[in-house]
Amino acid sequence: MKANLSNLQDTKHFADFVARKLMPGDVISLEGNLGAGKTTLLQFIASALGISKQTTSPTFILFRVLPLVKSKRGIKWLVHGDAYRVQRQEELTEAGLNDYLQDPHTVTIIEWGNNVPNILPKRTKQILIKKDASDVRSATYPDAWGMLS
Ligand SMILES: Nc1ncnc2c1ncn2[C@@H]1O[C@H](COP(=O)(O)OP(=O)(O)OP(=O)(O)O)[C@@H](O)[C@H]1O
Ligand SMILES: [Mg+2]
Repeated sequence: MKANLSNLQDTKHFADFVARKLMPGDVISLEGNLGAGKTTLLQFIASALGISKQTTSPTFILFRVLPLVKSKRGIKWLVHGDAYRVQRQEELTEAGLNDYLQDPHTVTIIEWGNNVPNILPKRTKQILIKKDASDVRSATYPDAWGMLS
C-alpha cells in the first residue's frame, strides 16, 4: 500500500496510522535514501506511542531503547536502530539487538534495515520512503495494514 507524504503533516498522519497498526513483537525495516524522512517518521511514531523523549538518530550507538510511558496493546518498548554505518551485520547482534527482536513486548524499527538483512527475522515488515522526480515523498507499507485512514 502507498501513502503520500507531501509534507510533515502527512508524515505525522501516516505515523499516527502506523502507531495504530504496530503490534508487540513487530520488526520494521525503515528504508529510503539519505534524507528521505526516515528519522522524521520515526519521531512521529514515537510521539504517537506516547514516548516523550526526543528520538535523535542513534548514529553512534546502533540502537536505543525507548520505554513507553504507558504500554499500548502490549507494547512496552520501542527500539530505534540505525544500520547506516554498520560495517558488519553482526555488529547489531553483538550489541544485544536479539534480546529486543525476540521480546514479545517490544517493537523494533531499524533505519537502513536493508543494510542488515541477515540479522533481521523473516517476519520483518518494510516501510520504504521514496522521493519522486519533483521531490514529493511517498511511503509503501505492508498491504495487511489496509488503506491509510
Ligand atoms: N514529508 C516530508 N515533507 C517535507 N520534508 C520532510 C518530510 N519528511 C522529512 N522531511 C525533511 O527532510 C529532512 C531529512 O529528514 P530525515 O532526517 O528524517 O531523513 P532520514 O531519511 O532519516 O535521513 P538519513 O538517511 O540521513 O538518516 C529533514 O529536514 C526533514 O524535516
Ligand atoms: Mg535518519
